[in-house]
Amino acid sequence: MTTPAIGTSSGGTPRAAGAQAAPAESGQRPATFRVWRGDAAGGAFRDYTTDTAPGMVVLDAIHQIQAEQANDLAVRWNCKAGKCGSCSAEINGKPRLMCMTRLSDLSLDKPVTVEPMRAFPPVKDLVTDVSWNYRVKEKITQFTPRPPDAPDGTWRIQQSDVDRVQEFRKCIECFLCQDVCHVIREHHEETEFIGPRFFVYTAALEMHPLDVADRIPALKRDYGIGFCNITKCCTSVCPESITITDNAIIPLKERVVDEFYDPLGKLVKLFSRAHRG
Ligand code: SF4
Ligand code: SF4
Ligand code: FES
Repeated sequence: MTTPAIGTSSGGTPRAAGAQAAPAESGQRPATFRVWRGDAAGGAFRDYTTDTAPGMVVLDAIHQIQAEQANDLAVRWNCKAGKCGSCSAEINGKPRLMCMTRLSDLSLDKPVTVEPMRAFPPVKDLVTDVSWNYRVKEKITQFTPRPPDAPDGTWRIQQSDVDRVQEFRKCIECFLCQDVCHVIREHHEETEFIGPRFFVYTAALEMHPLDVADRIPALKRDYGIGFCNITKCCTSVCPESITITDNAIIPLKERVVDEFYDPLGKLVKLFSRAHRG
């Protein structure tokens, strides 16, 4: 993830990152954006009406409002390409990337609401404090590779094992999945529950063909995987289309069950380990 920047000035060119200006006759039309303005002490929605043109995304409209009407509007973004994970927000109540949400996919007949992610503390306007996520990441046992397979310090792994974890590495740390997860959002179990983004991260480590660390006891005891009731809301908002629940959370839950609730399986594992020597 790139370092987030907070844009609060009016000096930039709002369309510099991609949207093309369009003449009025080719589809330009005014639209109203209901933007949350405020900070940690509180805030409220404010309506801004601005011209829109074909090809614009929500971030273009926010930049245009910032440039023309609200120079102090805070919004975080970096890439405008769906890759830095900075511009996460709730658009019409749904967690989405502002730079990847086309106006043509929204109804502009009524105001488009744009508000900060509600699972995290507000900093200013559309910017939230997501630092909790970085503290969570520090708690997870890091990549622990087995000794090299060859004297030259290299390893041999199957392509199928590489392919299995590749999906998880697409994560851009936008934290939209964390935002939508009801365990974090409504029950505020942040201290006992790492959330879907970090189940993906843990799965990438646990399923890595070289990793030898055992995170299964921590998944049950410290990472709170038992709180997840597989609603799949996280999967439905992931902009990278990572199959969070089916490919990461459910296999991790199965490993926890095998380890803690399947004495026969555990016995077989111990037996085969003993035989391997
Ligand atoms: S599937 Fe689990 S982790 Fe994902 S949103 Fe639902 S409760 Fe949260
Ligand atoms: S898993 Fe998907 S939704 Fe969650 S942080 Fe990564 S890219 Fe964003
Ligand atoms: S600005 Fe980078 S993901 Fe939207």
